[in-house]
Amino acid sequence: MLSYEAMKPTKWLLGITGGIAAYKTPELVRLLTKQGKQVRVVLSKGGSAFVAPLSLQAVSGHPVYSELLDTDFEAAMGHIELARWADGILIAPLSANRLAALALGMADDLLTTLCLATKAPIWVAPAMNQQMWHHPATQQHIATLKARNIHILGPAFGEQACKEVGLGRMLEPEDIVSQLFAYPKPLQGRNILITAGPTWEAIDPVRFISNRSSGKMGFALAQAATRLGANVVLISGPVTLPTPQGVKRLDVVSAKEMYAAVMQQVENMDVFISAAAVADFYVKEAASQKIKKDMQADFWQLTLAQNPDILAQVAAREKRPFCVGFAAETENIQANAKQKLQQKNVDLIAVNDVSRKDIGFDVDMNALTVFSPEATYHIPKDSKYHVSLKLLEIISEQVCKKYNYESLINV
Ligand code: C5P
Repeated sequence: MLSYEAMKPTKWLLGITGGIAAYKTPELVRLLTKQGKQVRVVLSKGGSAFVAPLSLQAVSGHPVYSELLDTDFEAAMGHIELARWADGILIAPLSANRLAALALGMADDLLTTLCLATKAPIWVAPAMNQQMWHHPATQQHIATLKARNIHILGPAFGEQACKEVGLGRMLEPEDIVSQLFAYPKPLQGRNILITAGPTWEAIDPVRFISNRSSGKMGFALAQAATRLGANVVLISGPVTLPTPQGVKRLDVVSAKEMYAAVMQQVENMDVFISAAAVADFYVKEAASQKIKKDMQADFWQLTLAQNPDILAQVAAREKRPFCVGFAAETENIQANAKQKLQQKNVDLIAVNDVSRKDIGFDVDMNALTVFSPEATYHIPKDSKYHVSLKLLEIISEQVCKKYNYESLINV
């Protein structure tokens, strides 16, 4: 499966090795650039027999690198610096010869040296004669790359330059780019219910009790779950956010309205993510008319009563979805989270550290610690959208484990 890794790199190193398909690489550079990526090209000796460096320089807007021990290149950037600059490496086409060098960890040209010197994720699009592709040596090298988390794109089936027909053609540039930036859809066809935002608990027709939730995390989750193929129903408290594309949104105001809406929707849900900051209390006997300010009174008293715990009630249902809760903690994160897992009988608890100003409430970034009864996961600080993708990956994995599904797809 391709990972979400490809979405993030903005600085791509394109390695081109010897193969007739190298003539298609200026188009590949153009398509990567169209995606808003910066591209630097490394052309192997074999590659330069099939495509002119000048063409690649023109489309990438940068000089093409070829030699490992080139004094001009080393003076300008240097191979280690180039390896550090890249946050994604794509090698297309990858010849049988350079595949073997890569698998063996050789550093006998600039490209293989960069692959050893980089921390960036690597994708390769092999291209070779179909006999060569099927050779056990080649297949063994491919298995080695896969074990090293190098992503293999293709090869495609078809007529080859040598007139043989079979597997071994490089994927077309459009297919490489669409595979590179395509999302896997592990939640295809799954129904996910998400709550978001605060609730407003009326004191009178113009005043209410609420909290600082902006709804950004729940909305990012809805957007990310849709992107991963899920059918998403988002029940939102009062927020000022636009509805993510493809999401069915129901607006509510109070915790009781949210409870009613959740119970109405929960029946056929596979996953329930309770990201809303539901007010714990409502005002008993809220006034039906605006309460007048009494100039004589120093104190006002409101009687508060407990709202239903929506998450706990969903988790207590006989036929229940996989339940994920959120918790905002400032101390004893692990102990409090574990207690909440048990008390509410939920499958996962995602904890925000709200003592940090740079993440959590009302900002665009977040970091989470996620607890299941058996494991703990850390999702580092990132945009709420990317944090959501990671959390949904964990949820998919856990749902498969819990229900013994091989995959969420085609369940
Ligand atoms: O108990 P606490 O409020 O810390 O739990 C937080 C989790 O419980 C969140 O997932 C929140 O959406 C959910 N919750 C709820 N109904 C409430 C209070 C909290 O669903 N009344």
